Amino acid sequence: MSLPQPLIQYCDSTNIAISIADHKNDTPLIYVNQKFESLTGHSGNALYGKNCRILQNKSKNIQNRQKIRKFISDNSIDSIRVPLINFKKNGTPFVNLLFMSKLKDCLSNTQYLFASQFDISNTYPDILSQYEHNLETTLTEIPSAMTGNTFSLSGSLPVIANATATIAQAKVMLDQIDASFI
Ligand SMILES: Cc1cc2nc3c(=O)[nH]c(=O)nc-3n(C[C@H](O)[C@H](O)[C@H](O)COP(=O)(O)O)c2cc1C
Repeated sequence: MSLPQPLIQYCDSTNIAISIADHKNDTPLIYVNQKFESLTGHSGNALYGKNCRILQNKSKNIQNRQKIRKFISDNSIDSIRVPLINFKKNGTPFVNLLFMSKLKDCLSNTQYLFASQFDISNTYPDILSQYEHNLETTLTEIPSAMTGNTFSLSGSLPVIANATATIAQAKVMLDQIDASFI
């Protein structure tokens, strides 16, 4: 089973960072868009076949990694949003506000994992709300981009609407990064 071409075309054209991984074999990346490449500094070709934890480098992110592992293994959890300390290819740390959801087949088995990354570091509130708006639009439009295919994107909009605590946690992490550079 491969990713539907209309989905790839849609993700290529959207203005938020997107990555997609296979659900099996430690979730290797199979697709990233250009916005992801410019956000992280990594090219898709260098990342395909690898797990995206590579962006964490030496940061621990213990609790939020645990939440992600639970999300990946539990088919009843549709989507999550967690902040993670990540590093760009040039070594610059940033707080990655990671949104994750699932692409399920007609039997409701998860085939792929869908994610969007956002660099919350240096973000003014209006840029974050613009991103949230774009993420909502993308998630709303993806089902029609996949019309005729058997995949569905698991429910996700409430996770975006209820992100206040997650964003507060991201800002605490951001202060920690900044403090370690003073
Ligand atoms: C599609 C997809 C995109 C992901 N994007 C990121 C990312 O941008 N940054 C990150 O630190 N982890 C990302 N992850 C999470 C890690 O790949 C991994 O699942 C997480 O670190 C928990 O597993 P671990 O504790 O075994 O590392 C992504 C996972 C998937 C499936």
